[in-house]
Amino acid sequence: MTLTVPTTPSGTLGGDASRTPALAVRFESVHRSFPTADGPRPVLASVDLALAPGSVTALLGTSGCGKSTLLRQGAGLDRPTRGRVLVDGTPVRAHDDRCAVGFQEPRLLPWRTVRDNVALGLPRGTPRAEGRRRVDELLDLVGLAAHAGHRPREISGGMAQRTSLARALARRPGVLLLDEPFGALDALTRLRMQDLLLDVHRAHPTTVLLVTHDVEEALQLADRVVVLGRRPGEEAAGVLDVVDVPGERPRDRESADLARLRTVLLERLGVAPHHA
Ligand SMILES: Nc1ncnc2c1ncn2[C@@H]1O[C@H](COP(=O)(O)OP(=O)(O)O)[C@@H](O)[C@H]1O
Ligand SMILES: [Mg+2]
Repeated sequence: MTLTVPTTPSGTLGGDASRTPALAVRFESVHRSFPTADGPRPVLASVDLALAPGSVTALLGTSGCGKSTLLRQGAGLDRPTRGRVLVDGTPVRAHDDRCAVGFQEPRLLPWRTVRDNVALGLPRGTPRAEGRRRVDELLDLVGLAAHAGHRPREISGGMAQRTSLARALARRPGVLLLDEPFGALDALTRLRMQDLLLDVHRAHPTTVLLVTHDVEEALQLADRVVVLGRRPGEEAAGVLDVVDVPGERPRDRESADLARLRTVLLERLGVAPHHA
């Protein structure tokens, strides 16, 4: 199945060269298998997916279905066994500068301050004054200006995750790939982080691929939700469904549209909605 690029990405790049670029991503017939003692074990098969520049796509699936594996292909951290991934029309490279990744664990350097951890994301060769300006702007954006001098052990889990997000944005990525970024946070912090991600995307409308196993999070944040999973009798996962989510964000969590989509998505995940 080939997915077409939607014509109305939520954020398009204006003429301002200082803005974050937003790049198209295409997964073309991506297969990935891992070697085992019993021969190759297929994890992903025939994944075709196109992300429009500036769009937010949630990648939803049950644990172990291959979400992180697919995200790693998009970031150039792992290579497909077959097929390819294109960013802005050219193959993604290992540790591609055009892509930034965020993980469930913030992965900060404990001996560096919040400010210096964010600065680690700046591209090599960024002039000092420009780098300082960019880091200041990002610290403001994620609400950490007052904590710039703190070390990771002195801040909360939510703040650490905000630091990690700012570090990812410091390189002005064309594509931001987030692997369950709020998965380790408490419920309230998680909701706050979802709002923050919307603010961040408004300020830096880059292309976002957000891996989550949380239907609510997907419906709140994404233009489109891609459900990844295995069809009955198949060993490898593929795209089971793609759902466009209507409505401007932040969305009314109680709306009838979202309730309908929630039911569809929970069914696709093999979860009866009333038991969720
Ligand atoms: N480097 C690897 N070597 C072998 N198997 C792997 C490797 N990475 C992932 N897998 C397997 O691929 C499957 C999908 O993993 P993953 O992409 O992490 O799932 P998810 O992120 O959806 O929970 C799992 O069964 C996992 O054990
Ligand atoms: Mg994972």
